[in-house]
Amino acid sequence: MNDTAIAASGLRKAYGDKTILDGIDLNIGSGTIFSLLGPNGAGKTTMVNVLTTLLKADGGTARVAGYDIASQTRAVRAAIGVTGQFAAVDDLLTGEENLRLMADLHRLRGNESKRVVAALLDRFELTESARKPASTYSGGMRRKLDLAMTLVTKPDIVFLDEPTTGLDPRSRRTMWDIVRELTSDGVTIFLTTQYLEEADQLADRIAVLDGGRIVAEGTPDELKRRVPGSYLQLRFRDSAQLDAAARILPGSTPDPDALTLQVPGDGGSNALRALLNRLADHSVEAEDVSIHTPDLDDVFLALTGHATTEADAA
Ligand SMILES: Nc1ncnc2c1ncn2[C@@H]1O[C@H](COP(=O)(O)OP(=O)(O)OP(=O)(O)O)[C@@H](O)[C@H]1O
Ligand SMILES: [Mg+2]
Repeated sequence: MNDTAIAASGLRKAYGDKTILDGIDLNIGSGTIFSLLGPNGAGKTTMVNVLTTLLKADGGTARVAGYDIASQTRAVRAAIGVTGQFAAVDDLLTGEENLRLMADLHRLRGNESKRVVAALLDRFELTESARKPASTYSGGMRRKLDLAMTLVTKPDIVFLDEPTTGLDPRSRRTMWDIVRELTSDGVTIFLTTQYLEEADQLADRIAVLDGGRIVAEGTPDELKRRVPGSYLQLRFRDSAQLDAAARILPGSTPDPDALTLQVPGDGGSNALRALLNRLADHSVEAEDVSIHTPDLDDVFLALTGHATTEADAA
């Protein structure tokens, strides 16, 4: 394979008169983790479906593993693995049977099938539960089994559509470790997520999808640099104190409802002491001081004008 795993140009997809993907360009290097971020309904799953040939694009072109998604669907499918947003696990079968079924579908020979299935059960720490029906698995176990099923064919490129949604922090971390491990084997990962922390932790590059377009693209650090820097947040007892503080500290931004004041600065201890002394000189006292450094949540808010579902929930 060449150095580009996925390249898309002007991809478009509409449902009726509703445009979901409005000219998407992508370039994803082999062996990297690419994360597509976006709120509910942004078109992440649509994007995955188009790139994995499950859905036909209305316009534009894309190459996946070097193959054209429109004219070389078979070759694309042979090179990729897809773990969908909703698990493909069959509840009535055991974990082992689910994996065996995948191996059979891909015509692995008896011995090889056994070997691959056993290795995957081991790698995903599912050996103990291998003989239990998947209906008895926890959410995290199902997710792991689902991903293991995707890996039966040793794909070069793996699409993971919200692999950790609904998982507890520990299972999420396990999943992250597995994903990192895959890239160390040279696998390219296309990951969609609503969790900014997940993208921050895993992705080499991130694209933010909003309103059918990629509104920003870059490394996590590049994206963070696009939003205003650190600030101090001071909270006051009442609006009189807040107003007084805002007058004393020009360049600060008051929020009358929250009784808080944002002051640009990185929260170094000298600057912080000087600032509090200045307020004290005017008999103004902050009840609470916090230091805020920009994270991807801020980036998201700045770029899309709305917070993520994750931030909404918090
Ligand atoms: N088969 C379909 N017919 C009509 N509209 C659809 C269809 N599938 C998806 N849509 C619409 O396309 C938009 C994008 O959906 P998509 O599932 O790609 O979003 P998403 O980013 O994956 O969202 P989520 O985070 O909720 O999974 C939504 O407005 C959805 O209602
Ligand atoms: Mg989706």
